[in-house]
Amino acid sequence: MTTTQQSPNRKYHSILPIALASLLILGTARLVFDNLKNSRESIFRWRFWLEGNGFHRYIIKSSYDNDDNSYEDIEDCNVFEGKWVWDNVSRPLYSEESCPFLVKQVACQRNGRPDNFYQFWRWQPNDCNLPRFNALKLLRILRNKRLMFIGDSIQRSQFDSMVCMLQSALPQGQKSLHKVPSKKIFYAQEYNATIEFYWAPFIVESNSDHSTNHTVLKRLVKLDRIANHSKNWEGVDILVFESYVWWMYKPIINATYGNLNDIKEYNVTTAYKMALQTWANWLESSINSQTQRVYFMSLSPTHLWSSEWNPGSEGNCFNEKEPIHGPYWGMGTNLEIMKIVQETIQDLKIDVTFLNITQLSDFRKDAHTTIYTERKGKLLTKEQKADPKNFADCIHWCLPGVPDTWNEILYAHLLQEFYN
Ligand SMILES: *[C@@H]1O[C@H](CO)[C@@H](O)[C@H](O)[C@H]1NC(C)=O
Ligand SMILES: *[C@@H]1O[C@H](CO)[C@@H](O)[C@H](O)[C@H]1NC(C)=O
Ligand SMILES: *[C@@H]1O[C@H](CO)[C@@H](O)[C@H](O)[C@H]1NC(C)=O
Ligand SMILES: *[C@@H]1O[C@H](CO)[C@@H](O)[C@H](O)[C@H]1NC(C)=O
Ligand SMILES: *[C@@H]1O[C@H](CO)[C@@H](O)[C@H](O)[C@H]1NC(C)=O
Ligand SMILES: *[C@@H]1O[C@H](CO)[C@@H](O)[C@H](O)[C@H]1NC(C)=O
Ligand SMILES: *[C@@H]1O[C@H](CO)[C@@H](O)[C@H](O)[C@H]1NC(C)=O
Repeated sequence: MTTTQQSPNRKYHSILPIALASLLILGTARLVFDNLKNSRESIFRWRFWLEGNGFHRYIIKSSYDNDDNSYEDIEDCNVFEGKWVWDNVSRPLYSEESCPFLVKQVACQRNGRPDNFYQFWRWQPNDCNLPRFNALKLLRILRNKRLMFIGDSIQRSQFDSMVCMLQSALPQGQKSLHKVPSKKIFYAQEYNATIEFYWAPFIVESNSDHSTNHTVLKRLVKLDRIANHSKNWEGVDILVFESYVWWMYKPIINATYGNLNDIKEYNVTTAYKMALQTWANWLESSINSQTQRVYFMSLSPTHLWSSEWNPGSEGNCFNEKEPIHGPYWGMGTNLEIMKIVQETIQDLKIDVTFLNITQLSDFRKDAHTTIYTERKGKLLTKEQKADPKNFADCIHWCLPGVPDTWNEILYAHLLQEFYN
């Protein structure tokens, strides 16, 4: 890592190289930023983090929970515009204790987080209601099907969230979770439904594809290669893709296109576009629109600098207890990348649904794991916890929490698709 970016102009640097870079490292972004002023030293802590983690018209039918064929029609409603409302009656959708599959990394209460307010906010779209999540209904949709989440550790959280949302509807012995290299697989026996996570932080192939032993500082992306991954996606009924933070460590990235010995530095946005094109080509050659559905999650925002929502402050997301109300767009949230995704999807001959969860998540400065998380399979030490400035993770989210809302939105779309 070079530390030559010692410009006094913090905003300029933080937008791409720093903020985004730090997304990778589970909250150590702050370190990187400080590094700009100080340099040296923190590189090792950086590496430590990375390697440890690898990743209107609304129809309300009051009886819809019992009626298998009904759904709330969200077709003409932009569910991504709305606000967070306090709702300690219907939230959270599950508890840490009730979900045996919940991973330590995101179980913030168990890891000592003193407040639990972040669990009680419900996303309320402006022009409609999201359908109430019904695990049995989703299991019926998923009967004899595979639902696969593909991407990095953010995407893995969405998988973990989905497992927790579904599992309570299944009796003991009717559900299982196992890991095989690159995958986590949840199986609901009675429904013969499979929910999977597949590790592919760049979607295309890269030298970071090992599910636990990643190379982060020396990333090398093979922009035109996808077959080693995509062979695992063939025939999957519902595919949900996501890729962002791993691209964003620096504004340039080493990559190959064609000859694997011909390594060049590419602008990240150029490389991202090329990689998505490779993905798009695979979709067009492999997806059967009659039987398969494809979704793409928009980028998950970070909250690395409290000065963005609280001018003059010097912290990060640590100790934040309330969502941001009102207009807000964080500077780590790259619109150019969002545009590339949008354009790639528009040009496709098949339908891919873009789930634009960035804005709603950007309001949730209060919902990150901060210091109540782990690195390399171990909870933060007392010393690390005492230093939230350097050790708070403002990239990943506590569960129950924001990824549950992403899944509610996915659920709303699945209802629409499968009951229509
Ligand atoms: C729910 O929130 C309201 C408003 O903050 C509060 O008055 C009430 O005590 C809460 N109920 C529970 C069960 O926590
Ligand atoms: C179980 O689901 C898989 C897809 O996940 C499907 O290929 C298989 O045919 C299903 N089995 C039965 C008995 O329907
Ligand atoms: C991780 O990968 C590196 C480089 O590919 C390799 O040298 C190292 O032995 C691997 N570590 C483990 C624990 O597998
Ligand atoms: C990827 O695919 C190539 C050929 O298609 C193969 O030689 C290589 O071993 C594969 N790599 C992995 C990690 O599976
Ligand atoms: C690309 O790889 C070369 C050779 O390993 C290295 O010197 C350079 O810093 C890398 N560039 C980036 C952006 O990582
Ligand atoms: C790469 O980005 C720089 C700075 O944004 C820009 O000046 C340059 O033209 C870009 N190069 C390519 C090949 O897109
Ligand atoms: C996604 O949401 C953002 C913020 O609400 C908006 O600016 C952008 O246009 C949306 N993108 C798409 C493709 O709908």
